[in-house]
Amino acid sequence: MQQRPIGDRTVSAIGLGEMPLSIEGRPDRRQAIATIHASLDAGVTIIDTADAYSLGVHEHGHGEELVAEALAAYPGPTDDVLVATKGGHRRPGDGSWTVHGDPAYVKEACEASLKRLGVEAIGLYQYHRPDPTVPWAESVGALADLLDEGKILMAGVSNANVARIDEAQQVLGGRLVSVQNEFSPRFRSSEGELEHCERLGIAFIPWSPLGGIGNADDIQRDHPAFAEVAAEVGASPQQVTLAWMLAKGSRVIPIPGSSRPETAIASPAAAGISLTPEQVSRLDAS
Ligand SMILES: NC(=O)c1ccc[n+]([C@@H]2O[C@H](COP(=O)([O-])OP(=O)(O)OC[C@H]3O[C@@H](n4cnc5c(N)ncnc54)[C@H](OP(=O)(O)O)[C@@H]3O)[C@@H](O)[C@H]2O)c1
Repeated sequence: MQQRPIGDRTVSAIGLGEMPLSIEGRPDRRQAIATIHASLDAGVTIIDTADAYSLGVHEHGHGEELVAEALAAYPGPTDDVLVATKGGHRRPGDGSWTVHGDPAYVKEACEASLKRLGVEAIGLYQYHRPDPTVPWAESVGALADLLDEGKILMAGVSNANVARIDEAQQVLGGRLVSVQNEFSPRFRSSEGELEHCERLGIAFIPWSPLGGIGNADDIQRDHPAFAEVAAEVGASPQQVTLAWMLAKGSRVIPIPGSSRPETAIASPAAAGISLTPEQVSRLDAS
C-alpha cells in the first residue's frame, strides 16, 4: 500500500479507526479482533484508538486493551504498526464525553495507556480535545514532558484550530507530528487545518472521514459526485472519499472506522485509486 510519513516514521496512507469496536453498537470481541486482523492483512500500519473508547469509565481503556490483544494474537509481524492513542477524554457512562486537560491528569492517563498497551513508550500520543478550563499550552506541555521522559515517541493534538496547532508546535519545540481533526464530505471546515499541516510538513489525520459511524452510506445521497466518480474509477463512493482525501495533501492519513472485516479490507484498497485533477475538483465542489 502507498506509504506516508509521520514524524520520523512511515505508515500506510490509510489507517484503521478503532472507535466502532469499543463504543455503543460495537460488535463482539471475536468480530472486533477479526476486524483489526483484516485491516493488518490489508497492509494497514497505523491504528488509531483512545483510552476513552469504551462504554463508560468502568471499562476505561477498552479500545487500547483490544488493540493490544489483537496485535499480540496476530500471526504476522506487527513491529511496523504504529498505535496512535489519545488521552484527555473520559466517558462517565451516560453516553457523554467529558474533557480533562489538567497536565497532571494527562500524564497519569498516559501512564495507564502505557500499561494497557504493554509498551515502554507509546508510538504516537495525542491530546484528545481542548479543555476550556485549562490553558492549551499547559495541556500540551504535558506532551512535551512525556516526550522528554521517553514515555511517548511522537506527539500529536486533536480537534485543534490553526492557532492552537501553532501554539502546540511552539510548546513542543517543533516536535508536533500530527493533527487529528474531523474532515469528511459533509464536514469540510477543517480544510484550513489540513492545508496548514501540509505547509508545516506534519500529518493531518481526518477523523470520521466517512461521516461517522452509521453514516457512510449518506455520502452518495448527499454528495452525488462521489457516486459519479466511483462509477468512473470502478470503486465505491466511500473508497473515492478516502482517495479524494489522499489527493488533497501528501501528509493526509485518513483513519476510517470499521466494525466488520469487509469494510476493514475495502478501505485500505482506496489508497490504490488515483483521481485526475478534474475529478478532485468535481468532488471538492460536490
Ligand atoms: N479525535 C477525535 O475526537 C475523534 C472523534 C471521532 C472519531 N475519531 C477517530 O476516527 C475514526 C474514524 O471515525 P468513525 O469511526 O467515527 O467514523 P467513519 O470512519 O467516518 O465511519 C465509520 C463507518 O464507516 C463504515 N465504513 C468504513 N469503511 C467503509 C467502506 N470502505 N465502505 C463502506 N462503509 C465503510 C463503517 O461501517 P461498518 O461499521 O459496517 O464497518 C462505519 O459505520 C474513529 O474510529 C476514531 O479512531 C476521533
